[in-house]
Amino acid sequence: MLLFVCIFACASLVAGAGQTIPQDKGNVNTINLHNAFSEAIGNFSVELLYHTTKSQNNNLIVSPITVWTVLAVTTEGALKNTRVQLTNALRITKNRTITRAEFQNVAQWLVTNSSTVQLARYNGLFVDKSVELEKSFGNVSKDYYDTSLVPVDFKNGVATANYINQLISSFTRGRIPKLVDSDSFGETRMIITSALYFKGQWTSPFNASSTTRRAFQDSNGVKIGEVNMMYNRFTYPFANIKEIKARVIELPYGNENRLSMLIMLPNPGVTLDEMFLSLKTVPLDTVFAEMRLSQEEFGEDDVDCYIPRFKIESNLDLTETIRDGFHVYDLFDQTKSNLGRLAREPLYVTKVIHKAEIEVSEEGTTASAVTGAVFANRIGVVRFEANRPFSYLIVEKVTNTIVFGGIYQKPILY
Ligand SMILES: *[C@@H]1O[C@H](CO)[C@@H](O)[C@H](O)[C@H]1NC(C)=O
Ligand SMILES: *[C@@H]1O[C@H](CO)[C@@H](O)[C@H](O)[C@H]1NC(C)=O
Ligand SMILES: *[C@@H]1O[C@H](CO)[C@@H](O)[C@H](O)[C@H]1NC(C)=O
Ligand SMILES: *[C@@H]1O[C@H](CO)[C@@H](O)[C@H](O)[C@H]1NC(C)=O
Ligand SMILES: *[C@@H]1O[C@H](CO)[C@@H](O)[C@H](O)[C@H]1NC(C)=O
Repeated sequence: MLLFVCIFACASLVAGAGQTIPQDKGNVNTINLHNAFSEAIGNFSVELLYHTTKSQNNNLIVSPITVWTVLAVTTEGALKNTRVQLTNALRITKNRTITRAEFQNVAQWLVTNSSTVQLARYNGLFVDKSVELEKSFGNVSKDYYDTSLVPVDFKNGVATANYINQLISSFTRGRIPKLVDSDSFGETRMIITSALYFKGQWTSPFNASSTTRRAFQDSNGVKIGEVNMMYNRFTYPFANIKEIKARVIELPYGNENRLSMLIMLPNPGVTLDEMFLSLKTVPLDTVFAEMRLSQEEFGEDDVDCYIPRFKIESNLDLTETIRDGFHVYDLFDQTKSNLGRLAREPLYVTKVIHKAEIEVSEEGTTASAVTGAVFANRIGVVRFEANRPFSYLIVEKVTNTIVFGGIYQKPILY
């Protein structure tokens, strides 16, 4: 019997051009839940980014926290070796009570609905009517992971696919219209989904009339195409972080100083793979600490920031990554999988698929009117120009959760 794991995520980053947003910069968050648990999720997240971006020559978006959540729910249903491999992959303790409590602490920060930032999630377990679930599993997934049990009829494939697709589509405001295909159901008995939706306005919006068409290079400085480069000058937190051989800038969202995009631009000659390899050994806390130090030193210095306007859609099959990259073997093996706390019948996972989308732009179609402005580079103004392959992370700062992350390396005029 098959279990099918799907993870969907969606981010839409819209800068409200022409809108003045009150700023409360400078206040480093007073609440902070950075502990061994948030660091464990962080380690998993960076490792996932490393494995998915390695030897990729395309642009990419993934949502590590949604992948983590889906696997954590699955872990609740696992026993013996299947469970041990999962807890190792997720870097969590064997004690369920502790994991549940700590996850709830983190999850409460992953929901926001203000006028400038929206972060919402939907976790669903679609189970065939005929599957006899372990009673406690439904309760645990609902109570601790906010994952609803939805009975469906996989025999009636087309209707079920439509139903699941409609549910996720309405949740992601139509951005991810089609997730599952009835053809891929086969013998599927259950689908675990985790969807995340994010929409944020920059604290300091980019001005659409400053967007210009500019060259984009590979990591060796050879021109490989053109992008629509957005420009803004702001007191962005910024640092040159030697440990990861990259310069990092933080672009905050909204007024709450809770969600930010970090753009990591490897130094000239350094590839994205090399940077991620270093990032695996440097906790995110260290990155933020260095940015704070740098900000104390350079204070309110303006930064001239150039980043391409972009939209990325990823449709990834993470099965191999989870199995080979994280050594989760038994879960996918029909003869070894033990999901005895999940259902009364033997189940194993056939596939983990992940869909995500991100759009980074100024607001509205007026932005597509590209002009040819030239910018003087004032002395004393730091210049940060993402005109070669870079990585971006959207981070929730109270918990240091990597909500979305990915790479941009293939220039596209968007
Ligand atoms: C954007 O730039 C144009 C041209 O420099 C300027 O007229 C306009 O006021 C700017 N808009 C905002 C919101 O700063
Ligand atoms: C798990 O942790 C809780 C809370 O610290 C503790 O009360 C419980 O005894 C632990 N369970 C096991 C099996 O170690
Ligand atoms: C967010 O807030 C808006 C306006 O207050 C409301 O219309 C919308 O339903 C809320 N969204 C969620 C997911 O709660
Ligand atoms: C599951 O939840 C239901 C309703 O909240 C409750 O009646 C039932 O006792 C719970 N079952 C277990 C095994 O905890
Ligand atoms: C996370 O990774 C860092 C660097 O490799 C390591 O020092 C730390 O112990 C890891 N933390 C956890 C919770 O696995």
